Amino acid sequence: MFAKCFVSFLVFFAIVSSVFTIGDEDIRCTAKSCKDAVCDEVPDKCKSNETNAGVYLLSPDICNCCKYCLVNLVEGEPCSVGDPSNGKHKSICGPGLMCNVEKDGETDGTCQKMNSPCASAQQIYDNKRELGYLGSMEARPSCDDDGFYSAYRCIPGQNCFCQLPNGTRIFGDANYNTITDYMTCGCSTAYHAAIEILGRELHPHEHFRCAADGSFDRLQCIHEKCLCVDSLDGAPTFPNNPLVDIKLITNETLKCYSSNNTGEYYKKCEKEYMEIHKEVENKKSKHSYSLVLGYSYPNCDMDGTFAAVQENKTHKYCVDKEGSILTEPLEKTASTAAMKSLLANMNCKCARAKLIMSTTEKPLCLKNGNYDSIQCRRGICRCVDENGNQKCSTDDKKCEEVDESQKSKLKCT
Ligand SMILES: *[C@@H]1O[C@H](CO)[C@@H](O)[C@H](O)[C@H]1NC(C)=O
Ligand SMILES: *[C@@H]1O[C@H](CO)[C@@H](O)[C@H](O)[C@H]1NC(C)=O
Ligand SMILES: *[C@@H]1O[C@H](CO)[C@@H](O)[C@H](O)[C@H]1NC(C)=O
Ligand SMILES: *[C@@H]1O[C@H](CO)[C@@H](O)[C@H](O)[C@H]1NC(C)=O
Ligand SMILES: *[C@@H]1O[C@H](CO)[C@@H](O)[C@H](O)[C@H]1NC(C)=O
Repeated sequence: MFAKCFVSFLVFFAIVSSVFTIGDEDIRCTAKSCKDAVCDEVPDKCKSNETNAGVYLLSPDICNCCKYCLVNLVEGEPCSVGDPSNGKHKSICGPGLMCNVEKDGETDGTCQKMNSPCASAQQIYDNKRELGYLGSMEARPSCDDDGFYSAYRCIPGQNCFCQLPNGTRIFGDANYNTITDYMTCGCSTAYHAAIEILGRELHPHEHFRCAADGSFDRLQCIHEKCLCVDSLDGAPTFPNNPLVDIKLITNETLKCYSSNNTGEYYKKCEKEYMEIHKEVENKKSKHSYSLVLGYSYPNCDMDGTFAAVQENKTHKYCVDKEGSILTEPLEKTASTAAMKSLLANMNCKCARAKLIMSTTEKPLCLKNGNYDSIQCRRGICRCVDENGNQKCSTDDKKCEEVDESQKSKLKCT
């Protein structure tokens, strides 16, 4: 019950917020309103070509007439955490920095590096670059202005994937070479916020459906009622239109519907899942069981397609989004330690990344679809982590890379 309320709440919230943003044309501001406005000069630093010199914002006057730019302060410069009575702010600490005051209650301090895992990871990267210790494929971690990990991370030449503010990879990825815009990962991030509150995974009909890149699927059906939403924030695109019954969705009733089959919303994996779910719920209510055993649900992703790792009673294997097998199924009864480890750690991330990559330089995958910890490209070999990202053993040594002929000397852990 709580889950249902929560989802409805999400939808409701989306509808309410979109009504406000649609109506944001202010009748007090006409073309003439700004004619006599007296504007402060934009600071020189903002006009320079330096990266991160400043941030342009809407000016804090009714019709946003002026150009308004906050200068980004650099490390060590004096700053103020300010109080609202102090008037317009003219500067803020630049990206990765925060205003550090000596004592509680004081407002003046200096800009200091943020002490967050992402900011520290950036610092380590920058130090290594200075010392010439970087690996040739190592990418700089990207943090948001608050020092958390950005919504997504890219492995050059391979793929970009969504991540949580703490840097944990979540659902949603795209081909590195064809990504044209930034990824928001808004849908997969919202899902994780929801399970954080509920404390359990959600069934396909309980959450927003995501697109493959972690944004919102433009068509959403919740409790058999459907509507079109914005792919970036999930807000309804036609908030005043009535919801359409799931059996009646066509490209005429809902502009965002792209299938030829009326009423077809659920994808193959979701459909299998929902059928089993219905059966289990029926058994539960008929016999008042609290738990029904013997059913195994397919493992669906947030976009309604098959998740990469699937298993049945006897085997574990990697599949593509349609459920077609990608790697030879591994028997669960395997007895050797090596096989047991392959089974236990199976993530199929390499097998899946290969599918979306358009280049011919594909990564080398293990039998369980994971990345081989040694990857070679153009004759040079390096160690990688489970996402195919270059991994270097220590921070105070040059990142180890060897000639392909020396491959066996590389020790990756
Ligand atoms: C900024 O770059 C533009 C074109 O790249 C150049 O014409 C201009 O002089 C530069 N301005 C400054 C302040 O360096
Ligand atoms: C990041 O956050 C998620 C969800 O809160 C949690 O499950 C995961 O363990 C965290 N990862 C790290 C590295 O802290
Ligand atoms: C809806 O789909 C039908 C059949 O595929 C097509 O003939 C029709 O033009 C489509 N209508 C719109 C509004 O796209
Ligand atoms: C709809 O049908 C047309 C013609 O039969 C086909 O070309 C098109 O790919 C179909 N669209 C979808 C989304 O299945
Ligand atoms: C499990 O899946 C594998 C691969 O599709 C198949 O060969 C095997 O027969 C299945 N086992 C059962 C018990 O369904």
